[in-house]
Amino acid sequence: MYQKRIETNIAVYRFDELDAADQALLNKAKEQVAKSYVPYSHFHVGAAVRLANGEVLAGSNQENAAYPSGLCAERVTLFYANAQHPEVPVRALAIAGWTNGHFLEQPITPCGACRQVLLETETRYGQDIRVLLYGAECVYVLERASDLLPLCFVRDSLEG
Ligand code: THU
Repeated sequence: MYQKRIETNIAVYRFDELDAADQALLNKAKEQVAKSYVPYSHFHVGAAVRLANGEVLAGSNQENAAYPSGLCAERVTLFYANAQHPEVPVRALAIAGWTNGHFLEQPITPCGACRQVLLETETRYGQDIRVLLYGAECVYVLERASDLLPLCFVRDSLEG
């Protein structure tokens, strides 16, 4: 028997330490919380992606009275980006969460299902996606989506 150890590198920034492109993407995600539809959780999430062609697209979480029919901001945004521009890789994703009248103090971290979709977007284009997780106190930056989902199941896994 031996043990494996998995480590994740997370760069922790103050917002004002980030470069202009990262700040702009985070600001876009922050703006989007105002557009979420969250009558059930009252938990607003905004997301923004930057594509390889420089275009920025954004989305927010959308809930439903049949709860599982709702969708997180990350998947709304990623699916929208892939639907609009199936040939263009996603280069970066930023998310922000807002509830009880303020942005979360600590960085918001995506749910498992969103990590899975983010990872498929990364592997689909074979290009790392920079992940920016906003918190009012600090911002987590991961260099690639796969860092969020170790021991993952991907398309290649289907080959056996
Ligand atoms: N949610 C997101 O949109 N993204 C996340 O990263 C976490 C959770 C949404 C789903 C639901 O509308 C609400 O937040 C509460 O879970």
